[in-house]
Amino acid sequence: MLVIANWKAYVEDLGKAKKLAALAKRLSRGTKHALVLAPPAPFLGALAGKNASAVRFSAQDVSATAGGARTGEATAQAYAAAGASYAIIGHSERRAAGDTNAVVATKMAHALAHGLAPILCVGEPERDSEGRYLAFVREEVAAAVEPLSPKERGSVIVAYEPLWAIGKTAAAAADAEDLAEMAAYIRKVLAELLPGKRAERSVILYGGSVEPANIRALAAGSGIDGFLVGHASVEPATFAALVAALA
Ligand code: PGA
Repeated sequence: MLVIANWKAYVEDLGKAKKLAALAKRLSRGTKHALVLAPPAPFLGALAGKNASAVRFSAQDVSATAGGARTGEATAQAYAAAGASYAIIGHSERRAAGDTNAVVATKMAHALAHGLAPILCVGEPERDSEGRYLAFVREEVAAAVEPLSPKERGSVIVAYEPLWAIGKTAAAAADAEDLAEMAAYIRKVLAELLPGKRAERSVILYGGSVEPANIRALAAGSGIDGFLVGHASVEPATFAALVAALA
């Protein structure tokens, strides 16, 4: 499985960042799962330079613009040069800060143009009994994937992150049954957008209060290929327990 540690802005100290990266490197040697770290931008270059052989790195976001006179922007090209292999795009915390589906689509294109595998985050704010949440997720996937070329579409990773499950505790996360339904639905939507049978091999992740207590149950039989983990990825003992629980 693919486990992406989304450090968000929880890690603000280079010493802590280095300790977590060293831990991930150690853990990666003892597990068959692939570990990816998404540190805050200022730490990515320093960490990726030393550790990229054992763990891979992801941007938490990329700029919607190319380089130039754009103070404060961190472009996909700069992230790739610093050692990132992936980019989280359209995280709900970026969407809340103003990223529309159109902005997300532009960021997808920038990431792909510079060799970053985009981790497209989608997820409904709430569940309703009429199934409108499915149409909401479909729209987020389609808006981001439709503008891409057939070849680019094949490298999109989709992270299902329902807003109602983010930043809580394991008890509030989606359950394996919800997840199986949603993973199958996202794969169906991708099958309409990707050439041939490519969607069968698309990587689908889940994020939203993944903790050591629920990761195993969520992995088993839900049809997903990995996790995007926030708060449980920034405390060394918790992250170690999480990877151990998955094994
Ligand atoms: P959480 O965050 O694990 O803290 O719920 C997940 C995410 O937002 O990527």
